[in-house]
Amino acid sequence: MSAKQIHDVDAVIISLTNIRGNLYTMSLRAPAIAETAKPMQFVNIALGDLSDPLLRRPFSLSGIYPDSGVIGITWAVVGRGTQIMARWQAGESVRVLGPLGNGLDIDELDTSQGLLLVAGGTGLAPMIPLVSRALAKDAEVHIFYGARSADDLLDMGGGCRVHLATEDGSIGFKGLVTGLLEAFLDGGALGDGKPTVISCGPRPMLSAVKRICRRHRLPLLVSLEERMACGYGVCQGCAVPSARGGYHRVCTEGPVFWADRLDQGECTR
Ligand SMILES: Cc1cc2nc3c(=O)[nH]c(=O)nc-3n(C[C@H](O)[C@H](O)[C@H](O)COP(=O)(O)OP(=O)(O)OC[C@H]3O[C@@H](n4cnc5c(N)ncnc54)[C@H](O)[C@@H]3O)c2cc1C
Ligand code: FES
Repeated sequence: MSAKQIHDVDAVIISLTNIRGNLYTMSLRAPAIAETAKPMQFVNIALGDLSDPLLRRPFSLSGIYPDSGVIGITWAVVGRGTQIMARWQAGESVRVLGPLGNGLDIDELDTSQGLLLVAGGTGLAPMIPLVSRALAKDAEVHIFYGARSADDLLDMGGGCRVHLATEDGSIGFKGLVTGLLEAFLDGGALGDGKPTVISCGPRPMLSAVKRICRRHRLPLLVSLEERMACGYGVCQGCAVPSARGGYHRVCTEGPVFWADRLDQGECTR
């Protein structure tokens, strides 16, 4: 996307909720971002006026509401920055840069054979706006969603077929979500259908999804959550090897890539 469409705004926090455990969600008033953002784009959020922590943190848009000018962010506390965010209050204003990355335009995506989404942990967050736009197009959507335990799962809206997996078996299939996906596909549940698969989550999960999709000849898009610095293409800090040599910047050419555009080993790190 062109730099002209990126906005650096003061966004007022409308609500901030602890979903459960270390999972949080907030909605922010940011009309300039909400009006142009696409599903699976992200924003870079400043943690305060202080130079420590210096770098903004990237978060996918888990809500995009152009009519009300509101965006949503959903996150897990994993370190200092996400802990600072968890202490913010409704009414405070935070600096937000976005929308960033390529995202996915639902009208450019072949949904005629349905979508099969595979998410791990907070990897579900960017898929939430995508699901509502796909359902509005009457696409059939399956979501395979896995986490360590029931307490680590994000809430999902209705309207799609949900297949849950938890490593401790506290809800759904006991084991990895990729095991559930593989059993579903191997069982022939899709017949001759070739849905587009879209996956976001930890690298080992993406690697397994890539292997499964290759075996079943399914087109696969992956969204990478690389560590980032600038977030808009300048520092090269997010570069990943391309299948054709050279590198892709995850923050500008991604975060969403056709899996075959990435180096074979790229999903396995
Ligand atoms: C495009 C993009 C979209 C993202 N969307 C979301 C989202 O919707 N929800 C969400 O919870 N997180 C998301 N992340 C990850 C999020 O940016 C990091 O969790 C956050 O920056 C950590 O900040 P921190 O200061 O709390 O942790 P730090 O103190 O910086 O790090 C704490 C721990 O988290 C690990 N870590 C930090 N960043 C990442 C990363 N990008 N990938 C994997 N491990 C990391 C570190 O290695 C370390 O072990 C996204 C990342 C990217 C690049
Ligand atoms: S984070 Fe700076 S180029 Fe991608």
